[in-house]
Amino acid sequence: MKFDTRAIHEGQKPDTQTGAVIVPVYQTSTYEQETIGKHKGFEYSRTGNPTRKALEESLASLEGGNYGLAFASGVAATVAVLSVLKSGDHVISGNDIYGGTYRIFEKVFKQWGLDVSYADVDKIESFEKAIKKNTKLIWIETPTNPLLKIIDIKRLAGFAKKKGVLLAVDNTFASPYFQRPLELGADIVVHSTTKYLAGHSDVIGGAVITSNEALYKDIKFYQNAAGGVPGTWDSWLVLRGIKTLAVRMREHEKNALYLAKYLEKYKQVEKVYYPGLKSHPQHYIAKAQMSGFSGMLSIELKGGFKAVEQFVSKLKIFTLAESLGGVESLVCYPARMTHASLGEKERFKRGIKDNLVRLSVGIENKADLKNDINNALAL
Ligand SMILES: Cc1ncc(COP(=O)(O)O)c(C=O)c1O
Repeated sequence: MKFDTRAIHEGQKPDTQTGAVIVPVYQTSTYEQETIGKHKGFEYSRTGNPTRKALEESLASLEGGNYGLAFASGVAATVAVLSVLKSGDHVISGNDIYGGTYRIFEKVFKQWGLDVSYADVDKIESFEKAIKKNTKLIWIETPTNPLLKIIDIKRLAGFAKKKGVLLAVDNTFASPYFQRPLELGADIVVHSTTKYLAGHSDVIGGAVITSNEALYKDIKFYQNAAGGVPGTWDSWLVLRGIKTLAVRMREHEKNALYLAKYLEKYKQVEKVYYPGLKSHPQHYIAKAQMSGFSGMLSIELKGGFKAVEQFVSKLKIFTLAESLGGVESLVCYPARMTHASLGEKERFKRGIKDNLVRLSVGIENKADLKNDINNALAL
């Protein structure tokens, strides 16, 4: 079955008891046992729940993996992956990542003895150079948040495999519709399902997908032991969002490409970051490993923070808010919002300037979005 069909049907057969076409919300914490230890596959909803199971099967199918695990948030999914590591292990992370992931590395896992270093995502060789005897995991996002840089997954996976290091890819910005890292050789895919997968800015969720059975068992053990699972309603909402993922992603991309091309010519715009533009330094990699360029773009405005303040306050359709990937367009100021936890020094070092604005392009009418930006940029 093709992607669009799997998004609607995988893991979501009509309910065997009632024939309900849609997977029910199994709002139960526990399950009857006929005799001690004899049950229908579910014991307790932290360990497993039928609605969550449907979501996990759907996620695995969309990413082309054998196993999916759902979590209460994207950061809970990130922590679950890192939980397979031990004190003294080394992680190489790309240097352009979500601020919350950086915060997990710096403020949580470093205290527990994890060794973390950052490689320059513009130079793939820097990952190779950073490898040490105790390196166990490479962590990347591609496209990256917030600078939309692209990393060659196949090349990095080949290198990681040779060194016996796991490669985890946070695929939130692309969604499995446009990019499937496991098929390119990655070991683990992570998502904030809050974003494109759920798609309607109404739920927080996360996911881990892998085809490695041993890793799956370890992360599943952690999922039950630590308990950062999504509730039933939240699982159901993500599952419902997934049904329209393919249609939504096509529209997100169409609108983002249209706006990126427009903004590139705009005199108040210093720079446009969008992997679908021919001017993007890694456009050729994006073209090779993605089937589309998704709906995220960032711009640098002439006039610094003052221009940014004016721009975001004048926008009417784009809402100033954290998050991304919903049907509605959002604008975000990474320096003070998603990437505030980096602090000024780290932020500058990573190229996140004071005049950087991130746009999550929604699926409204593209002419309305263009007019909104045009009015907001007008002096
Ligand atoms: C790329 C990326 N990964 C992970 C996360 C964390 O996800 P959540 O907010 O669902 O915990 C985010 C949140 O913005 C993100 O942008």
